[in-house]
Parts: sequence; C-alpha cells; structure tokens
Amino acid sequence: MTKSFILGSTALWLLGIMLIAGNTVALEAKAIATLRSKAQVLKFSVGTAVRLEPLMNDATYAEILGREFNVLTAEDAMKFSATHPTRDRFDFTDADKIVNFATTHGMKVRGHTLVWERRLPRWLVEGSFSKIQVSAILKHHIQTVVGRYRGRVFAWDVINEAIDVEGVGLRQTFWSKMLGSDYIAQTLTWARDADPHAKLFYNDYGGEALGAKSDAIYDLLKSLKERGLPISGIGLQSHFVLETPPKMSDVATNMKRLAALGLEIQITEFDVRMAMPVTDKKLRDQAQIYLDYLSTCLSIANCTAFLSWGFTDKYSWVPDFLTGRGAALPFDEGYRPKPAYRAMAQALNNSGRP
Ligand code: XIL
Repeated sequence: MTKSFILGSTALWLLGIMLIAGNTVALEAKAIATLRSKAQVLKFSVGTAVRLEPLMNDATYAEILGREFNVLTAEDAMKFSATHPTRDRFDFTDADKIVNFATTHGMKVRGHTLVWERRLPRWLVEGSFSKIQVSAILKHHIQTVVGRYRGRVFAWDVINEAIDVEGVGLRQTFWSKMLGSDYIAQTLTWARDADPHAKLFYNDYGGEALGAKSDAIYDLLKSLKERGLPISGIGLQSHFVLETPPKMSDVATNMKRLAALGLEIQITEFDVRMAMPVTDKKLRDQAQIYLDYLSTCLSIANCTAFLSWGFTDKYSWVPDFLTGRGAALPFDEGYRPKPAYRAMAQALNNSGRP
C-alpha cells in the first residue's frame, strides 16, 4: 500500500510539475505576445486613456488595460473641474484610483491636464475674479495637483490646446483673457517648481503633420526653448479621420524639426474614427493608419510614447461627440482585438529601434 501510495503521489507530483511548467510556458508565451511586452523591449511607452467607471466595474476592461499597456492617462479624472470642484476643496478620489491602478500594475502615468479652456468649474469661470486672483488660483491649483503626484506622474500635459484653430496665434480662452499672453511661460514655471523631475508637455490637436497650425505650435515651442523655459515635449493628440489621415512623410518631417529643438514627442490621444457602420474594408484602412503612424513615431528616436484615447470601442468619446462616427480604437465593443490592434503589434515587432 505504501509503495503504491508513494508511486501514486510521485506520479501526481510529476504531473503537477509538468502542469506548472506547461503553465509557465503558456503564461510566458502570452506575456510575450502583448503590446506592453513588445514595447518594454524597445523601452517604449504604449498606452491609453482610462475612464474610472469601467475601471471599477468592468473586469475585462481592467484586465486588458493592465495586460496590454505600460502607460496610462486619465481621460477626465485629472481635469480642473474634477480635481478642484470648489474654490477651497480639491478632490482626488477618482484620480487616485487611476494612479493606484497604474502603480499596482507597474505602469507609468501621464497627467492630463492642468491648463485647458474646457472642463473648468463654474465657481472659477463665473467667479468674477481679478487677474491677480486668477493667477493665484491657478498657481495654487498647479502646486497642489502636480505636488500630490510628484514622482508618480512622469509627464504632464501642462497646457492643452492653446493655439487657435487656424494656427494664427494664441487661442482666446479664459486663461489667456484673464492672465495675458505670457500665461504659458508662467504655468510651466509653476509646474516645474511643483515637480522638478516631471516632463512638462504642450499638448494639442491638428499639428501632427505640416501646415499653419503645426508651424504655430513649432514657433511657440521654439520661443519657449529659447527663453530657457522648462518645456520637455510636445503631445500630438492625433484624433484622425479614416478618410483623411495626415501624410506620414509630413508627420516625420514635423517630428524631426520638433526633435531638433531638443523636445520629446508623444502621441497622446490617438484614434481613427470612421463613418458608421463598420465594414471590413474600413477596418483594414484603419489598421493601415495605425501601422503607418506608430511606425513613423518609432522611426524617430525622440518619439517616446504612443497612447490611444481609450482602447475599446465600448468606451470612446467619439460617438458621443461626433455624431455618426465611431469604431476608432484597437479593440471592438466586445473586447475583440481589431486589425488595428494587430497593426500596432506589427509596428512594434518591426521597429528598427535598438
Ligand atoms: C474628452 C473626453 O474624452 C470626454 O470624456 C470629455 O467629456 C471631454 O473631453 N482633447 C483632449 C481631451 O485633450 O481631454 C478630450 O477628452 C478630447 C479632445
């Protein structure tokens, strides 16, 4: 009995080892196949914007997020009205949950955003404050928000969308009207004081390729650099339209001139929207844009991160803001990877990066 027991348990033990070994191999194979692990090899950041509601309530969302990406940003939770709902009170409940998820999963965090004309609380815009008061409020806001996440947020979109649509100059916003045209320099300095090590970004849309707007962004960043102000990089939002993507050779030319200023380039809000309904052809065309755009970024050494604005069509700002448009992201509504996802994997696989 003892003999057969020993034999039997040895067999079980061996089986266990084999199962564990098999499992380990399977797990490793799975880990190697993610966007995250491919990016890690290249010391590159691949990521997405995150919404709190599905992060808390949709297990598949959280599982894919932690598995596929090594950087995240808060889609809304770090905007002014979210973190600073009344004049005397900050609220970091939502932002903390997102940052804590990143910490637990070994992901970097991009902070979005400190100075933007949207998502401002009514107490601020309707408060009839003087210039001196608004300046003090914004300084305090930046010190508090950046200070709280010092060492945890590696890059901040300090200023978002400050150039006007035609690219002829600074956009007229609450901030520019209240503080005057030099508010950008001022806010960069406050952010630098609040975190000496965070990378400080100017973030905007429509300046990815060549044209009046990207020229205006370039001129602004060049002058900030020349004045010795703490600007580390440019965030290219990259909200693209399926039928009219930018010319990739122009994107590369633009990235090179920005890199020549000593700036990092990060793709911060990529998506490629299409007119609904989805067809196979549209998905293939979309995948081609994903492939070309990520490959272009990877071909420029200073392009260090690539984030899409969400990762599943189940949660995307596109259908809510652009009627009749959608399906802009790499996973579909049922979390199935789309051709766009495979295009990202292919770009990471084939990058010439050392
Ligand atoms: C959008 C979010 O996706 C929405 O959930 C929100 O209601 C409005 O803002 N450019 C930006 C982002 O910098 O902050 C915007 O995000 C999309 C356009």
